[in-house]
Amino acid sequence: MQIKKVNEELKYIEKIKEMNINKSPKYHILTMGCQLNENDSEKISGMLNEAGYSKTEKIEEADLIIFNTCCVRENAEERLFGKLGEVKKYKEEKGTIIAIGGCMMQEKHITNKIKESYKFVDIVFGTHTLEQFPKDLYESIKEKKKIEDIIDIDGIVYEGVPVYREDKIKASVTIMNGCNNFCTYCIVPYVRGRERSRNPQDIINEVQELAKEGYKEITLLGQNVNSYLVSQKEKGEDVNFKVKIDENLLEQSGEEKSEIIVNSFATLLLALNKIKGIERIRFISPHPKDFTDDVIEAIKNSKKVCKQIHLPLQSGSTKILKAMNRKYTKEEYLKLAEKIKKEIPEITFSTDIIVGFPGETEEDFEDTLDVVRKVDFEQVFMFIYSRRVGTVADKMENQILEEIKHERFEKLKNQVESRMQAQNKNYVGKEVEILVEGKSKNNDKMLTGRTISNKIVNFEGTDDLIGKVIKIKIISEHQWYLKGNIIGN
Ligand code: 5AD
Ligand code: SF4
Repeated sequence: MQIKKVNEELKYIEKIKEMNINKSPKYHILTMGCQLNENDSEKISGMLNEAGYSKTEKIEEADLIIFNTCCVRENAEERLFGKLGEVKKYKEEKGTIIAIGGCMMQEKHITNKIKESYKFVDIVFGTHTLEQFPKDLYESIKEKKKIEDIIDIDGIVYEGVPVYREDKIKASVTIMNGCNNFCTYCIVPYVRGRERSRNPQDIINEVQELAKEGYKEITLLGQNVNSYLVSQKEKGEDVNFKVKIDENLLEQSGEEKSEIIVNSFATLLLALNKIKGIERIRFISPHPKDFTDDVIEAIKNSKKVCKQIHLPLQSGSTKILKAMNRKYTKEEYLKLAEKIKKEIPEITFSTDIIVGFPGETEEDFEDTLDVVRKVDFEQVFMFIYSRRVGTVADKMENQILEEIKHERFEKLKNQVESRMQAQNKNYVGKEVEILVEGKSKNNDKMLTGRTISNKIVNFEGTDDLIGKVIKIKIISEHQWYLKGNIIGN
């Protein structure tokens, strides 16, 4: 794997900074899609902050507007084109620079549409050229020309891009990028390229820096986190990385060693668990087919790894799972969930489900409802199947009528919501541990935090509790959150 330290790229940051002397330009960034995209936006923000820009939430006052796009479902496209219509006036009135990046820009039919119908867009960049954004921006400003910076070649892991995180308690850390799975409904492998993992020492260094800055929770990101280092291993590369944890940041349990071998996702979890200051470790998303026993063991034995697993189901029907190319059956999924529950009794699950995949019958859909009942997920992210140009499923003939897709979606939603209500009722009277994240969005007299299973808990407390893990007794349940009282920390 080629690891490249950004140096040349950062020179353009300096050049932009020089141009920005005595100016205080502002940027507005709109991020669509998943947490990986959010993390990419934090990198764009990091580069722009160093180049002398400051961030604004008010789109109308921005000198530079960036859309970081997603293309997993069709509604993201509608949203982008709607937004482009809105910002055209800023370009015309005051010459605001408009840049579009991210997954959607890896799709030729989209970039063609932008070139034809949205000629006012200045910069278009893709998922493999994110690190080149300062250069693109510099050339766009200096030479007043349109920039299209999209390549299909992946395989390089960039290190050293500055990251600007707004949240000061929880941080996302990308550990790998790309996907080799080619689920038949999914566009991601086409726009993000093949799997490539960061070196463990780079990840550990980033998490150590976060710990020093006072971060308490990290979420490890990747399209398929439990394939971490696997494709390198398959290519015959030596992946037995000897990593070192800073002595000052090493948990003192008496037997901790600062030098360890990381050669898999499980060993990465074990290593990160040793970093002092970090209280919680989460990860999204693992693939059920790659959920090996060593990962279960690592979750069980790592105090900081949340006993909560996001395990995307997609469908409960073995027939549909096969058509989706998911490589597990309904029974195998249920067996895996049971095995994990047996090993880690306090575990909770969340999942992703698609309804209305081509060929899905009422019986197939019933299988999905059945798995939802049996696993008793605490959170279900539900999606209506969306046809994506270039994917295998898009060419399947047995597409489901929109009306039926919506009916099934409503049915699933009702089942999930009523189960969630019952689960929330069960929390009342219980004691839970929460990480206090900050003030509640809707009531600044209240603080808010999350349980290990990701339930939002609001409570009355003083600001010094922000960033701490405390015990709360739940006193009432509401549709989207629980309410509680402090009992200690
Ligand atoms: N249509 C609907 N949902 C999709 N997802 C991915 N591709 C599609 C699609 N074409 C969902 C999957 C995935 C989540 C991130 O998005 O459930 O896990
Ligand atoms: Fe898409 Fe499947 Fe890869 Fe997830 S595992 S990103 S759903 S192809």
